[in-house]
Amino acid sequence: MELFKKKTLIISGGAEGIGFAVAKAAGHEGMNVVISDISEATLSSAEQTLTDAGISVLAVCADARHEADWRRVADAALERFGGIHALMNNAGVGGAAGELESMSLEDWRWTIDVNLMGVVIGMQTVIPHIKAAGGGWVVNVASMAGMTGIPCGGAYNATKLAVAGLSEGWAVELAPHNIQVAALCPGFVKTRIYLSDRNRPDDYAQSDRPLITTDEEALAEGRTVIASAVNGGIEPNVLAQRVIESVRAGDPYIFTHPDFRPVVAHRYQMIDQAFASAEASPIVGHIKGGMGDANPFAGSD
Ligand SMILES: NC(=O)c1ccc[n+]([C@@H]2O[C@H](COP(=O)([O-])OP(=O)(O)OC[C@H]3O[C@@H](n4cnc5c(N)ncnc54)[C@H](O)[C@@H]3O)[C@@H](O)[C@H]2O)c1
Repeated sequence: MELFKKKTLIISGGAEGIGFAVAKAAGHEGMNVVISDISEATLSSAEQTLTDAGISVLAVCADARHEADWRRVADAALERFGGIHALMNNAGVGGAAGELESMSLEDWRWTIDVNLMGVVIGMQTVIPHIKAAGGGWVVNVASMAGMTGIPCGGAYNATKLAVAGLSEGWAVELAPHNIQVAALCPGFVKTRIYLSDRNRPDDYAQSDRPLITTDEEALAEGRTVIASAVNGGIEPNVLAQRVIESVRAGDPYIFTHPDFRPVVAHRYQMIDQAFASAEASPIVGHIKGGMGDANPFAGSD
């Protein structure tokens, strides 16, 4: 099945950073790209840049948290290009990581609404159209933060673990429809993710913490650790080439930083040891699966 040429891809949060880089790379592969974003200003300059590069692009201002916005994006894509074959659920925010007690529930809600519910609503809205087109592909943007629990990782960590896990299930669920699903798990990538407060909508209560929307504010608040890690990250264009390569290969996970492998290996070792402990337990050691023929994991290997 042709995955790129003359196919149509929707990317949420496509105005800058990772989403924009993938829009450009996919456009160069011959795709029509639909970029949606909450930021009208960056969206229109992204549209211009892609048009100037000879890419067939449609830009739709939309908030990934809202179902009606997603429907508008899908309708506009169908009207302009006649079908939808691929989706990149990319819109995301860094939220406000920190110690457990320090994170406000409003920051939890914001991060979950964008990073998790944005993906769920994107899938629910767009997948029926990809099915109708006979199949295609999905990349859901998780993170290396979706591969393990991180101390003080907060809502960001939670949403990325959720997106990675959901994507594994959706890959099995949607395979019969010729739809491949991958979770993209990058390490640090040089974008403005550490200034995500610039996209914190007013419909959440005023934050007690100072919002970090510029490099000067990050510096003034001493929030330079994440900023310098992100600024030392890989270029978005490198990541975009990796996405194209992995979609072509049909990989279920897309990694960009192979040196994180031991971190994930450690997690699975820890889980495996916990199973060994359960097997040795006089209380539960004799218990067998209990799922019988209804094993939901059947067909996943
Ligand atoms: N940069 C990294 O180091 C890194 C690492 C792993 C994963 N990620 C993930 O990559 C994805 C893209 O982030 P990025 O690094 O390019 O950051 P970015 O801030 O440069 O880009 C995020 C884009 O999403 C848009 N956006 C924010 N809230 C939105 C909303 N409610 N609706 C629609 N659009 C919205 C922003 O306007 C922006 O264009 C995110 O999901 C992020 O968690 C980033």
